[in-house]
Amino acid sequence: MAEPRISSIDGKLAEEFAAPSHVEEVKDKMAAFAEHHAAAGRRVVLITSGGTKVPLESRTVRFLDNFSSGRRGACSAEYFMDSGYAVIFLHRHRSLYPYTRMFSTINMLDALQFRGEDGASGEVVVNQQVLPNIVKALKRYHEVKDGRLLLPIEFNTLSEYLHLLKAAAQALSTIGSKAMFYLAAAVSDFYIPASEMPEHKIQSSNGPLQLSMNMVPKILSPLVKDWAPQAFVISFKLETDAAILLDKARRALDTYRHQAVVANVLDSRRGYVVVVTPETQSELILTEEDVKNEVEIEERIVSNLTSAHEKFITQQVG
Ligand code: PMT
Repeated sequence: MAEPRISSIDGKLAEEFAAPSHVEEVKDKMAAFAEHHAAAGRRVVLITSGGTKVPLESRTVRFLDNFSSGRRGACSAEYFMDSGYAVIFLHRHRSLYPYTRMFSTINMLDALQFRGEDGASGEVVVNQQVLPNIVKALKRYHEVKDGRLLLPIEFNTLSEYLHLLKAAAQALSTIGSKAMFYLAAAVSDFYIPASEMPEHKIQSSNGPLQLSMNMVPKILSPLVKDWAPQAFVISFKLETDAAILLDKARRALDTYRHQAVVANVLDSRRGYVVVVTPETQSELILTEEDVKNEVEIEERIVSNLTSAHEKFITQQVG
């Protein structure tokens, strides 16, 4: 089936997806952030992270969610900042976050203890077992904060995600090829238009629920062709069937004409991805030794893409 025309996607976005009230304010913030860092000679990456939420009722009790912990996005943000990038982190509210993600499996009260045995002093110290990791993360967190290298922006629903991504693309268009889009979020392909959504909670007393959902416009089209045409754009492709993964990644490149697709399979995504470009196909794999040494696959992905971005910028200038 033919891709809908860009103008029709833009129109659909305006008509069928409610824009968050702060979208213009956020757009100005992102534009100022991008211009400040580009002027200082830094590249800027917009990372999307986490899953989108699609409401089934306008006074929402129930919703459909997309799978994603936000680990890929949060982890990648850290490696991009280590590589000298400034990061706009467009993430799902309460999904994993750079630096604090390391402690997401720790119960905070287990990480702390009273100084002295009975707690009478009221002083609390960090447990020796977690202290080295906390010190490392805290140091980097403060460096990033002092350098204002991270601009976090939150979304919850699909509508918020779509409008904020459009705003980000427009905000970053002023820095041209210095901008990278790293679209790691898991975005719903289906939604119920506001005009067809029941206002109140769907009643189970009415019997089994039959849902009819519309297709979400593929936002990559206008992003690449219209909103940020000079930027370096990376999409992700997640499949559960490895046999169709690379074909789907290639098809995405053919359709949207962007720079690369990071292809991954649900079960192996933490140890194996393929970076597919129109000319190349690079497998990135963690060995058992890497895993033992706590190497993360995002370090390899970011290293691959920052080099490709460098070349892309040189070609644009030359
Ligand atoms: O967060 P984790 O638990 O660490 O997991 C990371 C991940 C598996 C979610 C991540 O690595 C990943 O693969 N994300 C993409 C998930 C996906 O399958 O996306 P998609 O096939 O629905 O979309 C493909 C691309 O098109 C995505 O880059 C998406 O940003 C983009 N898209 C999607 C829908 C839409 N309406 N417009 C879009 O542009």
